[in-house]
Amino acid sequence: MRGYLWGIVTVVVVLIVGGFAVYWFALVPMGADARMFPNEKKMANHMVNATIAREEPQPPYPFGPTTDATILAGAKLYITNCAVCHGSAGSDQSNMSKGQYVAPPQFTKHGVDDDPEGETYWKIEHGYRFTGMPAFKGTLTEEQIWQLTYFLKRGMDKLPPAADAVWHQPHGD
Ligand code: HEC
Repeated sequence: MRGYLWGIVTVVVVLIVGGFAVYWFALVPMGADARMFPNEKKMANHMVNATIAREEPQPPYPFGPTTDATILAGAKLYITNCAVCHGSAGSDQSNMSKGQYVAPPQFTKHGVDDDPEGETYWKIEHGYRFTGMPAFKGTLTEEQIWQLTYFLKRGMDKLPPAADAVWHQPHGD
């Protein structure tokens, strides 16, 4: 029993010292061009999804029902604040978008129209820790974040004409 306990203590000490050595000697590659560790993405996604499930707003959602004017307002906000990373129909993917450690999904290829509005709202409001995805709480109003949410929810192939014209603008990178 004693030997068993000493075994556990030794393993714990080795893990703590090892973990500290990784930190102190900076053994984790810190460039944005580093490769991901095995399971890094899976673990991050698990924590993000669990947090969103706990905190996302539930229906009925505010600032509805969605009109063409709401979608247009969302499209304009999108071109100014988001398209540089997530793309638009009017531009190629920017260098800034291509160079990120966690690749920003390109909404020109895969939208988020299948996701519940509350989930998308949470992502825009809070952003994603340790990635380029900013938190827009504090720089955009709650109404603007809902306008963006409703714009993305509509789907890029179903936009009303005025919003579709904005979606075809370049992002000005
Ligand atoms: C500087 C780059 C950058 C900007 C600007 C940016 N994002 Fe992101 N965004 C990201 C990255 C990177 C991710 C992926 C994070 C991850 O998967 O861990 C992301 C993820 C997302 C997601 C989740 C996509 C999915 O498939 O689940 C949504 C929704 C989103 N962003 C919306 C927006 C909106 C709306 C704006 C503008 C108001 C915006 N983003 C601005 C980089 C950016």
